[in-house]
Amino acid sequence: MIVKTLIDKLERNQTLAPEEFKQLLENQSPELFEYLFARAREVQGANYGNDVYIRGLIEFTNYCKNDCHYCGIRNSNRNARRYRLDKEQILECCQAGYELGFRTFVLQGGEDPFYTDETMVAIVKAIREGFPDCAITLSLGERSRASYQALFDAGANRYLLRHESANANHYAMLHPEAMTLATRKQCLYDLKDIGYQVGCGFMVGSPNQTIENLVEDLIFIKELGPHMVGIGPFIPHHDTPFASQAPGTLEQTLFLLGIIRLMLPEVLLPATTALGTISPKGRELGILAGANVVMPNLSPGSVRKDYMLYDNKICTGDEAAECRSCMEMRLRKIGYQVAVARGDHKSINDKPTEGEE
Ligand code: 5AD
Ligand code: FES
Repeated sequence: MIVKTLIDKLERNQTLAPEEFKQLLENQSPELFEYLFARAREVQGANYGNDVYIRGLIEFTNYCKNDCHYCGIRNSNRNARRYRLDKEQILECCQAGYELGFRTFVLQGGEDPFYTDETMVAIVKAIREGFPDCAITLSLGERSRASYQALFDAGANRYLLRHESANANHYAMLHPEAMTLATRKQCLYDLKDIGYQVGCGFMVGSPNQTIENLVEDLIFIKELGPHMVGIGPFIPHHDTPFASQAPGTLEQTLFLLGIIRLMLPEVLLPATTALGTISPKGRELGILAGANVVMPNLSPGSVRKDYMLYDNKICTGDEAAECRSCMEMRLRKIGYQVAVARGDHKSINDKPTEGEE
């Protein structure tokens, strides 16, 4: 089958021409899936063995000044019950996570002006001092270059900022007018330039997304050369303008995970909570399609139900410890194990990072 040779070519060259990506995406079949996933697993194994890295996700604020059409915590959703965690609460989450074997903390929140540079720097410094052997990942949306620099200097190591769509028109269909793809890309390049390990990504099956858009996403990812890529299916949230749009599919998400593994053999690629939400075995299938990261929730139980980006999100009722052991068991069942390590991108593993001297 001609498309199989495209997969071989992708593995060999770590990229394809736009037309070839298109052909691959247009010819998804069960047989092709198996072939792609087997190649992706092989590449993943060659780089990271059977280790899956865990990141403790701390959703520290659900206030957001933005109004992304897809997102349940968008500013104009008056039904969202808003919360903020202070430095002490965040440190408590880290402490609980540390005891459970987490060595990366991901601070994720809406774009909340309450967390000024000064406040955020104080939080990052406190985590850096309290947990010198851990990586700090930030996911706070768009900020100024000076802000990114200050947070990096305070001890943050990584930054997640999904590009959401690499096609400007499609980007505009997902976001309010004030937000542009150009700004988003600038942020990503600034972050990379400063020295962060950077993650971009997009939702699979977001409203109006075409195969051509996905091809552009893949080409952009290749061009940026991120250390991490976060993708998951779009899932509608009932209080958003996209409430009645169809969700993305498990199959297409898995297919794209496999492609991304072959494009960026060393990339840190999560099997996301959204993937686990659209299908009970979604995260396991993601690992078997080439993903190598899972991000269990470390947020306090009392606020988990309020960080609802989409409907029916899983892991909202559990204790941190439950998710941790649940993931351990799920991974063991499919032949993988949780790695208690920072899990940096291979390209920086030889260099000392701040806090490790
Ligand atoms: N469905 C799936 N993913 C979503 N995100 C936001 N809203 C949704 C949704 N309805 C994703 C975005 C964002 C990340 C934090 O969560 O891609 O970057
Ligand atoms: Fe959260 Fe299984 S990972 S309950």
